Amino acid sequence: MSQLFRKKSVESILAESAKNTTTMKRTLGVRDLTGFGIAAIVGAGIFSTIGRASFEGGPAVIFLFIFTAIACGFTAFAYAEFASLVPVSGSAYTYSYVAFGELFAWVIGWALIMEYAIGNIVLAISWSDYFTTLLSGMGLHLPEWMTMDYFTAREGFEFVSNELAKGKTLEGIANSPYAQEIPKYLAFKDAPYLGFNLVVDIPALIITFLITALVYRGINESRKASNAMVVLKLAVVLLVIVVGAFYVNPDNWNPFAPNGVGGVLAGVSSVFYAYIGFDAISTTAEECKDPKRDLPRGIFASIIICTVLYVLIALVITGMVHYSELNVGDPLAYVFDKIQDLKWLAGIIAFSAVVAMASVFIVFQIGQPRIWMTMSRDGLLPKKFSTIHPKFKTPSFATIFTGFVVG
Ligand code: ALA
Repeated sequence: MSQLFRKKSVESILAESAKNTTTMKRTLGVRDLTGFGIAAIVGAGIFSTIGRASFEGGPAVIFLFIFTAIACGFTAFAYAEFASLVPVSGSAYTYSYVAFGELFAWVIGWALIMEYAIGNIVLAISWSDYFTTLLSGMGLHLPEWMTMDYFTAREGFEFVSNELAKGKTLEGIANSPYAQEIPKYLAFKDAPYLGFNLVVDIPALIITFLITALVYRGINESRKASNAMVVLKLAVVLLVIVVGAFYVNPDNWNPFAPNGVGGVLAGVSSVFYAYIGFDAISTTAEECKDPKRDLPRGIFASIIICTVLYVLIALVITGMVHYSELNVGDPLAYVFDKIQDLKWLAGIIAFSAVVAMASVFIVFQIGQPRIWMTMSRDGLLPKKFSTIHPKFKTPSFATIFTGFVVG
Protein backbone atom coordinates (compact mmCIF):
# COMPACT_ATOMS: atom_id res chain seq x y z
CA MET A 1 0.00 0.00 0.00
CA SER A 2 2.71 2.43 0.99
CA GLN A 3 4.31 1.66 -2.40
CA LEU A 4 1.31 3.30 -4.08
CA PHE A 5 1.89 6.53 -2.24
CA ARG A 6 5.66 6.57 -2.39
CA LYS A 7 6.95 9.96 -3.45
CA LYS A 8 10.01 10.98 -5.35
CA SER A 9 12.33 13.58 -3.96
CA VAL A 10 13.15 16.55 -6.16
CA GLU A 11 16.84 15.57 -5.93
CA SER A 12 16.27 12.03 -7.22
CA ILE A 13 14.10 13.28 -10.12
CA LEU A 14 16.73 15.83 -11.09
CA ALA A 15 19.48 13.22 -10.87
CA GLU A 16 17.52 10.78 -13.09
CA SER A 17 16.70 13.45 -15.61
CA ALA A 18 20.33 14.61 -15.73
CA LYS A 19 21.20 11.04 -16.66
CA ASN A 20 18.52 10.90 -19.38
CA THR A 21 18.61 14.35 -20.85
CA THR A 22 22.06 14.03 -22.29
CA THR A 23 20.17 12.67 -25.29
CA MET A 24 17.65 15.51 -25.80
CA LYS A 25 18.47 18.85 -27.45
CA ARG A 26 18.42 21.95 -25.23
CA THR A 27 17.51 24.59 -27.78
CA LEU A 28 14.49 26.53 -26.48
CA GLY A 29 14.77 30.04 -25.06
CA VAL A 30 12.17 32.30 -23.47
CA ARG A 31 11.02 33.65 -26.83
CA ASP A 32 10.44 30.15 -28.22
CA LEU A 33 8.56 29.13 -25.08
CA THR A 34 6.33 32.19 -25.28
CA GLY A 35 5.83 31.30 -28.96
CA PHE A 36 4.84 27.73 -28.06
CA GLY A 37 2.51 29.12 -25.38
CA ILE A 38 0.76 31.41 -27.85
CA ALA A 39 0.77 28.59 -30.43
CA ALA A 40 -1.16 26.41 -27.98
CA ILE A 41 -3.49 29.10 -26.61
CA VAL A 42 -4.74 31.01 -29.66
CA GLY A 43 -6.85 28.51 -31.59
CA ALA A 44 -10.44 27.42 -32.04
CA GLY A 45 -11.37 29.24 -28.83
CA ILE A 46 -10.84 32.73 -30.17
CA PHE A 47 -11.68 31.96 -33.78
CA SER A 48 -14.89 30.13 -32.98
CA THR A 49 -16.31 29.61 -29.48
CA ILE A 50 -15.95 33.28 -28.55
CA GLY A 51 -18.98 33.92 -30.80
CA ARG A 52 -21.39 32.06 -28.58
CA ALA A 53 -19.82 33.49 -25.38
CA SER A 54 -20.35 37.04 -26.72
CA PHE A 55 -23.90 36.20 -27.74
CA GLU A 56 -24.72 35.06 -24.20
CA GLY A 57 -22.85 37.74 -22.27
CA GLY A 58 -22.90 40.76 -24.60
CA PRO A 59 -19.90 43.11 -24.60
CA ALA A 60 -19.46 42.42 -20.85
CA VAL A 61 -17.90 39.11 -21.93
CA ILE A 62 -14.59 41.01 -21.65
CA PHE A 63 -14.92 40.65 -17.86
CA LEU A 64 -15.13 36.90 -18.30
CA PHE A 65 -11.87 37.01 -20.24
CA ILE A 66 -10.26 38.99 -17.43
CA PHE A 67 -11.62 36.78 -14.60
CA THR A 68 -10.60 33.64 -16.46
CA ALA A 69 -7.13 35.04 -17.04
CA ILE A 70 -6.83 35.65 -13.28
CA ALA A 71 -7.97 32.08 -12.54
CA CYS A 72 -5.52 30.72 -15.13
CA GLY A 73 -2.92 33.03 -13.57
CA PHE A 74 -3.16 31.10 -10.28
CA THR A 75 -2.68 27.83 -12.12
CA ALA A 76 0.18 29.43 -13.99
CA PHE A 77 1.81 30.41 -10.68
CA ALA A 78 1.64 26.78 -9.59
CA TYR A 79 3.00 25.56 -12.91
CA ALA A 80 5.72 28.18 -12.91
CA GLU A 81 6.83 27.30 -9.41
CA PHE A 82 6.89 23.57 -10.12
CA ALA A 83 8.46 24.04 -13.53
CA SER A 84 11.38 25.84 -11.94
CA LEU A 85 11.59 23.40 -9.01
CA VAL A 86 11.43 20.17 -11.06
CA PRO A 87 12.32 21.08 -14.65
CA VAL A 88 11.68 17.70 -16.29
CA SER A 89 9.30 16.84 -19.12
CA GLY A 90 6.53 15.13 -17.17
CA SER A 91 4.70 18.40 -16.37
CA ALA A 92 1.76 17.90 -13.94
CA TYR A 93 2.50 14.16 -13.85
CA THR A 94 5.96 14.75 -12.34
CA TYR A 95 4.69 17.53 -10.08
CA SER A 96 2.10 15.22 -8.53
CA TYR A 97 4.75 12.50 -8.12
CA VAL A 98 6.75 14.90 -5.96
CA ALA A 99 3.75 16.27 -4.08
CA PHE A 100 1.40 13.29 -3.60
CA GLY A 101 3.14 10.10 -4.68
CA GLU A 102 2.96 7.45 -7.35
CA LEU A 103 -0.77 6.65 -7.39
CA PHE A 104 -1.78 10.27 -7.91
CA ALA A 105 0.97 10.72 -10.46
CA TRP A 106 -0.32 7.73 -12.41
CA VAL A 107 -3.88 9.11 -12.40
CA ILE A 108 -2.75 12.59 -13.40
CA GLY A 109 -0.51 11.14 -16.11
CA TRP A 110 -3.49 9.41 -17.72
CA ALA A 111 -5.75 12.42 -17.13
CA LEU A 112 -3.35 14.53 -19.19
CA ILE A 113 -4.34 12.36 -22.16
CA MET A 114 -7.66 14.23 -22.10
CA GLU A 115 -5.86 17.46 -22.79
CA TYR A 116 -3.31 16.19 -25.27
CA ALA A 117 -4.20 13.03 -27.23
CA ILE A 118 -8.01 13.21 -26.87
CA GLY A 119 -7.88 17.01 -27.24
CA ASN A 120 -6.03 16.54 -30.49
CA ILE A 121 -8.59 14.05 -31.81
CA VAL A 122 -11.28 16.70 -31.38
CA LEU A 123 -8.97 19.31 -32.84
CA ALA A 124 -8.17 17.20 -35.92
CA ILE A 125 -11.88 16.72 -36.60
CA SER A 126 -12.70 20.41 -36.28
CA TRP A 127 -9.57 21.34 -38.24
CA SER A 128 -10.91 19.15 -41.03
CA ASP A 129 -14.31 20.93 -40.86
CA TYR A 130 -12.67 24.35 -41.15
CA PHE A 131 -10.37 23.18 -43.90
CA THR A 132 -13.14 21.65 -46.01
CA THR A 133 -15.26 24.79 -45.55
CA LEU A 134 -12.30 26.88 -46.67
CA LEU A 135 -11.84 24.64 -49.72
CA SER A 136 -15.53 24.88 -50.64
CA GLY A 137 -15.28 28.67 -50.32
CA MET A 138 -12.60 28.42 -53.01
CA GLY A 139 -14.86 26.23 -55.15
CA LEU A 140 -13.17 22.91 -54.33
CA HIS A 141 -15.64 20.37 -52.98
CA LEU A 142 -14.38 17.15 -51.44
CA PRO A 143 -16.82 14.21 -51.63
CA GLU A 144 -18.71 13.88 -48.32
CA TRP A 145 -17.30 10.40 -47.64
CA MET A 146 -13.84 11.95 -47.33
CA THR A 147 -14.86 14.46 -44.68
CA MET A 148 -16.29 12.53 -41.74
CA ASP A 149 -16.00 9.29 -39.81
CA TYR A 150 -17.78 6.03 -40.55
CA PHE A 151 -20.06 6.00 -37.49
CA THR A 152 -21.35 9.55 -37.99
CA ALA A 153 -22.12 8.74 -41.63
CA ARG A 154 -23.87 5.46 -40.78
CA GLU A 155 -26.03 7.13 -38.14
CA GLY A 156 -27.11 9.82 -40.63
CA PHE A 157 -27.76 7.17 -43.29
CA GLU A 158 -29.98 5.16 -40.98
CA PHE A 159 -31.90 8.24 -39.86
CA VAL A 160 -32.54 9.55 -43.39
CA SER A 161 -33.36 6.07 -44.76
CA ASN A 162 -36.01 5.68 -42.02
CA GLU A 163 -37.51 9.06 -42.84
CA LEU A 164 -37.56 8.20 -46.56
CA ALA A 165 -39.27 4.88 -45.74
CA LYS A 166 -41.96 6.89 -43.90
CA GLY A 167 -42.65 8.74 -47.14
CA LYS A 168 -40.61 11.92 -46.54
CA THR A 169 -38.50 13.34 -49.39
CA LEU A 170 -34.88 14.51 -49.33
CA GLU A 171 -36.08 18.07 -50.03
CA GLY A 172 -38.47 17.85 -47.08
CA ILE A 173 -35.66 16.74 -44.75
CA ALA A 174 -33.33 19.42 -46.16
CA ASN A 175 -35.90 22.04 -45.11
CA SER A 176 -36.39 20.57 -41.65
CA PRO A 177 -34.29 20.92 -38.47
CA TYR A 178 -32.63 17.63 -39.50
CA ALA A 179 -30.97 19.11 -42.60
CA GLN A 180 -27.51 18.33 -41.19
CA GLU A 181 -28.28 14.59 -41.56
CA ILE A 182 -28.26 14.82 -45.37
CA PRO A 183 -24.47 15.15 -45.90
CA LYS A 184 -24.01 12.17 -43.55
CA TYR A 185 -26.54 10.16 -45.54
CA LEU A 186 -24.81 11.05 -48.81
CA ALA A 187 -21.38 10.26 -47.34
CA PHE A 188 -22.47 6.72 -46.50
CA LYS A 189 -24.48 6.19 -49.69
CA ASP A 190 -21.77 7.44 -52.09
CA ALA A 191 -18.77 5.91 -50.31
CA PRO A 192 -16.68 3.39 -52.28
CA TYR A 193 -17.51 -0.15 -51.21
CA LEU A 194 -14.59 -2.36 -50.07
CA GLY A 195 -16.58 -4.98 -48.21
CA PHE A 196 -17.68 -2.02 -46.06
CA ASN A 197 -18.51 1.59 -46.88
CA LEU A 198 -15.22 3.47 -46.90
CA VAL A 199 -16.04 6.68 -45.02
CA VAL A 200 -12.90 8.31 -43.67
CA ASP A 201 -12.01 11.84 -42.60
CA ILE A 202 -9.05 12.28 -44.93
CA PRO A 203 -8.05 15.89 -44.00
CA ALA A 204 -8.06 14.95 -40.28
CA LEU A 205 -5.83 11.96 -41.00
CA ILE A 206 -3.47 13.98 -43.20
CA ILE A 207 -2.98 16.79 -40.64
CA THR A 208 -2.34 14.18 -37.93
CA PHE A 209 0.22 12.42 -40.11
CA LEU A 210 2.00 15.63 -41.17
CA ILE A 211 2.25 17.07 -37.68
CA THR A 212 3.35 13.78 -36.15
CA ALA A 213 6.09 13.58 -38.78
CA LEU A 214 7.18 17.15 -37.97
CA VAL A 215 7.25 16.53 -34.22
CA TYR A 216 9.14 13.26 -34.79
CA ARG A 217 11.68 15.03 -36.97
CA GLY A 218 12.85 17.36 -34.22
CA ILE A 219 12.10 20.00 -31.62
CA ASN A 220 13.96 22.60 -33.68
CA GLU A 221 11.88 21.94 -36.77
CA SER A 222 8.69 22.00 -34.68
CA ARG A 223 9.77 25.26 -33.08
CA LYS A 224 10.39 26.90 -36.45
CA ALA A 225 7.05 25.75 -37.87
CA SER A 226 5.15 26.80 -34.76
CA ASN A 227 6.90 30.19 -34.60
CA ALA A 228 5.99 30.87 -38.24
CA MET A 229 2.36 29.97 -37.54
CA VAL A 230 2.33 32.17 -34.44
CA VAL A 231 3.62 35.15 -36.43
CA LEU A 232 0.86 34.65 -39.00
CA LYS A 233 -1.95 34.26 -36.49
CA LEU A 234 -0.79 37.19 -34.35
CA ALA A 235 -0.56 39.34 -37.48
CA VAL A 236 -4.12 38.41 -38.39
CA VAL A 237 -5.42 38.96 -34.85
CA LEU A 238 -3.75 42.40 -34.77
CA LEU A 239 -5.13 43.20 -38.22
CA VAL A 240 -8.62 42.28 -36.99
CA ILE A 241 -8.21 44.54 -33.96
CA VAL A 242 -6.73 47.52 -35.81
CA VAL A 243 -8.97 47.42 -38.90
CA GLY A 244 -12.02 46.45 -36.85
CA ALA A 245 -11.51 49.41 -34.48
CA PHE A 246 -12.39 51.79 -37.34
CA TYR A 247 -15.75 50.08 -37.83
CA VAL A 248 -16.82 49.98 -34.19
CA ASN A 249 -20.15 51.60 -33.49
CA PRO A 250 -20.20 52.42 -29.74
CA ASP A 251 -24.01 52.10 -29.76
CA ASN A 252 -23.50 48.35 -30.04
CA TRP A 253 -21.90 48.35 -26.57
CA ASN A 254 -25.21 49.42 -25.11
CA PRO A 255 -26.55 47.46 -23.24
CA PHE A 256 -23.16 46.32 -22.00
CA ALA A 257 -24.36 43.31 -20.01
CA PRO A 258 -27.77 42.45 -21.53
CA ASN A 259 -28.13 39.13 -19.71
CA GLY A 260 -26.46 40.15 -16.46
CA VAL A 261 -23.90 38.12 -14.58
CA GLY A 262 -25.62 34.84 -15.58
CA GLY A 263 -25.21 35.68 -19.26
CA VAL A 264 -21.54 36.54 -18.83
CA LEU A 265 -20.87 33.33 -16.92
CA ALA A 266 -22.71 31.22 -19.51
CA GLY A 267 -19.63 31.40 -21.73
CA VAL A 268 -17.22 30.24 -19.06
CA SER A 269 -16.35 26.87 -20.59
CA SER A 270 -15.65 28.42 -24.02
CA VAL A 271 -13.49 31.11 -22.48
CA PHE A 272 -11.51 28.63 -20.38
CA TYR A 273 -11.05 26.55 -23.49
CA ALA A 274 -9.63 29.62 -25.22
CA TYR A 275 -6.90 29.82 -22.53
CA ILE A 276 -5.94 26.14 -22.37
CA GLY A 277 -2.42 25.45 -23.57
CA PHE A 278 -0.08 27.63 -21.50
CA ASP A 279 0.65 24.62 -19.31
CA ALA A 280 1.70 22.48 -22.28
CA ILE A 281 5.02 24.26 -22.65
CA SER A 282 6.16 22.76 -19.35
CA THR A 283 6.46 19.38 -21.13
CA THR A 284 9.46 20.77 -23.03
CA ALA A 285 11.45 21.41 -19.82
CA GLU A 286 14.28 19.10 -20.89
CA GLU A 287 14.62 20.87 -24.23
CA CYS A 288 14.96 24.36 -22.66
CA LYS A 289 18.31 26.11 -22.33
CA ASP A 290 17.44 27.43 -18.87
CA PRO A 291 14.11 25.90 -17.79
CA LYS A 292 14.19 27.25 -14.22
CA ARG A 293 14.26 30.81 -15.47
CA ASP A 294 12.58 30.60 -18.88
CA LEU A 295 9.57 28.33 -18.27
CA PRO A 296 7.87 30.63 -15.72
CA ARG A 297 8.59 33.62 -17.95
CA GLY A 298 7.23 31.86 -21.03
CA ILE A 299 4.06 30.78 -19.21
CA PHE A 300 3.30 34.28 -17.91
CA ALA A 301 4.25 36.13 -21.08
CA SER A 302 1.94 33.96 -23.17
CA ILE A 303 -1.04 34.37 -20.80
CA ILE A 304 -0.61 38.14 -20.57
CA ILE A 305 -0.25 38.63 -24.33
CA CYS A 306 -3.28 36.45 -25.04
CA THR A 307 -5.44 38.18 -22.40
CA VAL A 308 -4.79 41.60 -23.92
CA LEU A 309 -5.56 40.28 -27.41
CA TYR A 310 -8.72 38.47 -26.29
CA VAL A 311 -10.16 41.49 -24.50
CA LEU A 312 -9.46 43.73 -27.49
CA ILE A 313 -10.98 41.23 -29.93
CA ALA A 314 -14.10 40.85 -27.80
CA LEU A 315 -14.49 44.65 -27.67
CA VAL A 316 -14.01 44.96 -31.43
CA ILE A 317 -16.43 42.25 -32.51
CA THR A 318 -19.16 43.28 -30.08
CA GLY A 319 -18.62 46.87 -31.24
CA MET A 320 -18.78 46.02 -34.95
CA VAL A 321 -22.08 44.12 -34.78
CA HIS A 322 -24.81 43.81 -32.19
CA TYR A 323 -23.99 40.97 -29.75
CA SER A 324 -27.27 39.24 -30.64
CA GLU A 325 -25.87 38.41 -34.08
CA LEU A 326 -22.81 36.62 -32.76
CA ASN A 327 -24.21 33.13 -32.25
CA VAL A 328 -22.11 31.82 -35.15
CA GLY A 329 -19.23 29.34 -35.43
CA ASP A 330 -16.85 31.74 -37.18
CA PRO A 331 -17.48 35.11 -35.46
CA LEU A 332 -14.30 36.87 -36.64
CA ALA A 333 -14.84 36.01 -40.30
CA TYR A 334 -18.57 36.74 -39.89
CA VAL A 335 -18.21 40.35 -38.67
CA PHE A 336 -15.84 41.23 -41.52
CA ASP A 337 -17.87 39.44 -44.15
CA LYS A 338 -20.78 41.76 -43.28
CA ILE A 339 -18.90 44.89 -44.32
CA GLN A 340 -18.63 45.30 -48.08
CA ASP A 341 -15.11 46.89 -48.02
CA LEU A 342 -13.75 44.22 -45.68
CA LYS A 343 -14.97 41.01 -47.32
CA TRP A 344 -11.40 40.26 -48.46
CA LEU A 345 -10.35 40.08 -44.82
CA ALA A 346 -12.93 37.37 -44.05
CA GLY A 347 -11.07 34.93 -46.35
CA ILE A 348 -7.74 35.70 -44.67
CA ILE A 349 -9.29 35.16 -41.24
CA ALA A 350 -10.76 31.81 -42.31
CA PHE A 351 -7.32 30.75 -43.59
CA SER A 352 -5.55 31.84 -40.42
CA ALA A 353 -8.09 29.97 -38.26
CA VAL A 354 -6.94 26.81 -40.05
CA VAL A 355 -3.29 27.72 -39.38
CA ALA A 356 -4.04 28.63 -35.74
CA MET A 357 -5.65 25.27 -35.08
CA ALA A 358 -2.70 23.47 -36.68
CA SER A 359 -0.31 25.22 -34.31
CA VAL A 360 -2.34 24.20 -31.24
CA PHE A 361 -2.16 20.68 -32.65
CA ILE A 362 1.66 20.83 -32.86
CA VAL A 363 2.11 21.80 -29.20
CA PHE A 364 -0.30 19.15 -27.90
CA GLN A 365 1.29 16.56 -30.18
CA ILE A 366 4.65 17.50 -28.62
CA GLY A 367 3.22 17.28 -25.08
CA GLN A 368 1.68 13.80 -25.14
CA PRO A 369 4.80 11.74 -26.01
CA ARG A 370 6.86 13.62 -23.42
CA ILE A 371 4.40 12.75 -20.66
CA TRP A 372 4.46 9.09 -21.75
CA MET A 373 8.26 9.23 -21.97
CA THR A 374 8.50 10.39 -18.35
CA MET A 375 5.96 7.80 -17.15
CA SER A 376 7.95 5.09 -18.89
CA ARG A 377 11.18 6.17 -17.19
CA ASP A 378 9.39 5.69 -13.88
CA GLY A 379 8.34 2.17 -14.87
CA LEU A 380 4.64 3.07 -15.27
CA LEU A 381 4.74 2.30 -19.01
CA PRO A 382 6.93 -0.08 -21.07
CA LYS A 383 10.54 1.06 -21.55
CA LYS A 384 9.98 1.53 -25.29
CA PHE A 385 8.09 4.77 -24.57
CA SER A 386 11.26 6.45 -23.32
CA THR A 387 13.38 5.61 -26.38
CA ILE A 388 15.02 8.73 -27.79
CA HIS A 389 15.73 8.82 -31.52
CA PRO A 390 19.52 8.69 -31.97
CA LYS A 391 19.55 11.38 -34.66
CA PHE A 392 16.42 13.52 -34.13
CA LYS A 393 16.65 13.43 -30.30
CA THR A 394 12.88 13.15 -29.87
CA PRO A 395 10.93 10.44 -27.98
CA SER A 396 10.50 8.48 -31.20
CA PHE A 397 8.31 5.53 -30.25
CA ALA A 398 6.05 7.63 -27.99
CA THR A 399 5.64 10.20 -30.80
CA ILE A 400 4.61 7.58 -33.37
CA PHE A 401 2.30 5.94 -30.85
CA THR A 402 0.65 9.33 -30.17
CA GLY A 403 0.19 9.83 -33.92
CA PHE A 404 -1.37 6.37 -34.19
CA VAL A 405 -3.78 6.94 -31.27
CA VAL A 406 -4.88 10.36 -32.52
CA GLY A 407 -5.13 9.07 -36.12
N1 ALA B 1 -6.72 27.26 -26.34
C1 ALA B 1 -6.78 26.37 -27.44
C2 ALA B 1 -7.78 26.80 -28.45
O1 ALA B 1 -8.49 27.75 -28.24
C3 ALA B 1 -7.03 24.97 -26.99
O2 ALA B 1 -7.88 26.17 -29.49
